[in-house]
Amino acid sequence: MTGAFLAIEGIDGSGKTTVAKYIHDFLVDRGIEVVLTQEPTKGPIGDVIRKSLGKLELTPYQRALLFAADRHGHVQNVVMPALEQGKWVVTDRYLYSSLAYQGAEGVDMAFLRFINGFAPDADAVIHLEVPPDIGVSRLKNHDRFEDTEFLRKVKAVFDEILPRNTVSIDAGKPIETVLGKAEEVVLEMLED
Ligand SMILES: Nc1ncnc2c1ncn2[C@@H]1O[C@H](COP(=O)(O)OP(=O)(O)O)[C@@H](O)[C@H]1O
Ligand SMILES: [Mg+2]
Repeated sequence: MTGAFLAIEGIDGSGKTTVAKYIHDFLVDRGIEVVLTQEPTKGPIGDVIRKSLGKLELTPYQRALLFAADRHGHVQNVVMPALEQGKWVVTDRYLYSSLAYQGAEGVDMAFLRFINGFAPDADAVIHLEVPPDIGVSRLKNHDRFEDTEFLRKVKAVFDEILPRNTVSIDAGKPIETVLGKAEEVVLEMLED
């Protein structure tokens, strides 16, 4: 059986990390080889990005370029090798987060798409949809991107840019319900 590339997307506090881990464990339990990964990565550029979200002052275009640079390493060193070995890849955020967040910051969408042109589309995207105030209320430590007003914009851009192979899940529902829906998506992908 061949692998698949699944991206989990949504605003902060929507449940991405929880769902990604759950899907990872669900696949492992079925004896399926899966790589659980995330963006920003834990590599050197991912570190710079995390710092920049706190205090380092960067322009939105600089941030967009850093996310794309981080993603290039992620795709080349993690995603493609795993897919070539027939493994599943589940990523906690991907390309679509860049388009939505940096798009919401005012970076030109054509520019964002151009600098990410190397990044393959995911085979499927799960979009965890939650009202921004609920998402923010679930977070312990806030950075300045985790502001309800900004996340409203991000959500609007997600709605515009997510590809057709996106499954939206109402992530305002109890976690068991959300995980059950995510499981259905994965089961359907396993049947294909
Ligand atoms: N559907 C849900 N209902 C209630 N709490 C949730 C739900 N999904 C996630 N959480 C909780 O909200 C917090 C943020 O979830 P997390 O998976 O880290 O979100 P994200 O990675 O999208 O920021 C965690 O404490 C998690 O347990
Ligand atoms: Mg997370």
